[in-house]
Amino acid sequence: MDNKLIDESKKYLMNTYNRYPIVLRKGRGVKVWDTEGKEYTDFVGGIAVNCLGHCHRKVVIALQKQAQRLLHVSNLYYIEPQINLARLLVQHSCADKVFFCNSGTEAIEGAIKLARKYAKDHVSPERYEIISAYSSFHGRTLAALSATGQEKFQQGFEPLVPGFQHVPFNDADAIRKAITKQTCAVLLEPIQGEGGIRMPSKDYLIEVRKICDEHKLLLILDEIQTGMGRTGKLFAYEHYNVEPDIFTLAKGLGGGVAIGALLAKEHVAESFHHGTHASTFGGNPLACSAALASMETLLEDNFLLDNCLHLGNYFMDRLEKLKKDFPSLIIEARGLGLMLGLELIKAGAAIVESCAHRGILINCTCGNVLRFTPPLIITEKDIDYLIEVLEDVFEMHA
Ligand SMILES: Cc1ncc(COP(=O)(O)O)c(C=O)c1O
Repeated sequence: MDNKLIDESKKYLMNTYNRYPIVLRKGRGVKVWDTEGKEYTDFVGGIAVNCLGHCHRKVVIALQKQAQRLLHVSNLYYIEPQINLARLLVQHSCADKVFFCNSGTEAIEGAIKLARKYAKDHVSPERYEIISAYSSFHGRTLAALSATGQEKFQQGFEPLVPGFQHVPFNDADAIRKAITKQTCAVLLEPIQGEGGIRMPSKDYLIEVRKICDEHKLLLILDEIQTGMGRTGKLFAYEHYNVEPDIFTLAKGLGGGVAIGALLAKEHVAESFHHGTHASTFGGNPLACSAALASMETLLEDNFLLDNCLHLGNYFMDRLEKLKKDFPSLIIEARGLGLMLGLELIKAGAAIVESCAHRGILINCTCGNVLRFTPPLIITEKDIDYLIEVLEDVFEMHA
């Protein structure tokens, strides 16, 4: 354990993260190493960020080339990587237009602004309210936090931004009942991530889409965690036969580099015109080059998307088997592709720590849901090793 660095971190950094006592220095593929050379297999993947694994060759080369050419100019000018990335996203999604920003929460802020502006332009000037779900997570800036349906993240930051209503996830009728004359949009994660890998029923999103159409509401899907192949399709909405009017991306988009995006249908995107929204660093050359290389690699022969679905099924079978073997410890295994969760009867922190001792990084959300969001390049062998470690660790903690 690198105590000196950890002490310095406590001295100089704001105390916002409850970190594990591990200082990571290097990563390749699904492996990372700490400052003492200990190797870990990474089932966190930067929390659904490192879809191609760590330091993928093509992303690194794209960054190196771009860094030598042009690091930053303002959005007052056109830049090639931004246009190329937008074209690729539009070609492979239901959206027509893209706005680039730097993070997930910023993409959500943009989506909220765009929905309000569209409603004022096209439906009614009174409409500004957005319905979102309990247990959702949409980010930490104030409007995204107000949209988030979890009080624990909001406490201490009141008053929140007005205009958000929360309803139970996976309950289309609750949305219907919550609509008022002020409602302009519904905002949902297709699969809730931070909320504990909560799955929608098969028809939920189709039903929500219908409700939105009937009431002239926009459907905004937050694909920040589910997007970029995480669930075995490029975007999770593809599993559920719906098309959102607006959707947001971040996390996996940059292959490890910070970037966010807001995507919309043409008629909605038109409500953002000159001067309505902007970002100094949004869509900068470096981030867009990394994202372009990452997305091109992800799409190559569909290999990684197929791998994600295939290995996701394999992984899920192994988790189901664990559930049978440890009925007094495990409530449920759930998820899709390589976005999986294992809900425990008790807190998961000690299990995460025991796994780290054995060279496996996993994450725990909601206190008792072990979350697995590994790089999409993971192999059966990596999964087998994780299960072997979990079996031992569960024996210890059962
Ligand atoms: C679904 C979802 N939306 C928004 C966010 C916020 O993204 P960021 O941390 O990049 O601001 C997250 C982050 O975990 C997320 O999972």
